[in-house]
This record gives sequence, structure tokens and C-alpha cells, in this order.
Amino acid sequence: MSEKINIKLKINGVFVTLEVLAHQNLLRALRDNYYWDVKCGCEVGECGTCTVLLDGQAVKSCTVLAAACDGHEIWTDKGLGLSTKLTARIQDAFVECGSVQCGFCTPGMVVAATDYLKNGGKPDRTAIREAISGNLCRCTGYVKIVDAIYKVAKDIEEGLL
Ligand code: FES
Ligand code: FES
Repeated sequence: MSEKINIKLKINGVFVTLEVLAHQNLLRALRDNYYWDVKCGCEVGECGTCTVLLDGQAVKSCTVLAAACDGHEIWTDKGLGLSTKLTARIQDAFVECGSVQCGFCTPGMVVAATDYLKNGGKPDRTAIREAISGNLCRCTGYVKIVDAIYKVAKDIEEGLL
């Protein structure tokens, strides 16, 4: 039986204490605590659907030990969408551009796009493709995903956001 430990985190702006297994990854810890917008795909760092912001940086939560996040801040796609204009705009753009097929990759894509745009990402299709290169879409809808991120980058460039 694996040891259980308590960790304190700030998740989506709220301070919480989670009981996690010592060996558990952050993805499992989040999903075990009802953060179901964080999707579980490969669980080996390949697909990116589990991407969250950890202290403001996009990380694949399956590659991070939950215990190592004690005292740190996490934002998920849902929390970002409810709390930040940028992510809400990205989510809207995904809908407007038809970027969601089955939707399994979408939360991770939105978090990766948030990371790109909040760090000054430009409306540059090559750079956008690079920014989401760690996120796989099994429906292969990449063109429309890039279109959505491009659209928001353009809005930012034109001072509309
Ligand atoms: S579930 Fe984490 S990268 Fe695939
Ligand atoms: S929309 Fe289905 S995996 Fe991307």
C-alpha cells in the first residue's frame, strides 16, 4: 500500500489540500479530485491532453509528481476559461473556427494556446504550430486549431483584447 500525503495547492485561484499517493502524478491527483477537465490520454508525456499551467507555465501534468506541487499554483482549462479574458476568448475562437471535433485534445490545446499568447505569441502560423507541437489531435483537426489561435493573436495585435 502506497503512502498517502497531504499537499496544499492553489488550484484555479482556490487554496485546497489534496490527499495524494506518494507516487501519484499530478494528472491522477487532479482527476481523483474532480478536476475532470484535465484529460488523461497517454499518461507518458506524449499527447499533451493533460496540459495545465503550473506556476504560470504549461506542463504535461502526467509527467509531474503531485507531491512536488506542494505549495504551487495550478490552473486548468476550465478555471482559466472562467477567470481570464484571454482563455475565454481562445475557447470562443475554438468554437467559432470549428476547431473541436471529438474534443479530447481541446483542454490541453487551449492551455497550450494560453501559454503561447500570454507570453506575447504573435499571429504567426509557424510559431503557433511550434507552440502546440506537444499536443496531439487524434482527429487531426490541426488547421482549424491553428486558425483559432491565429485569430486570437490577431485580435491581441489589433488591440481588440
Ligand atoms: S496524458 Fe499526459 S501527455 Fe498524454
Ligand atoms: S478534436 Fe478529437 S482529438 Fe482533437
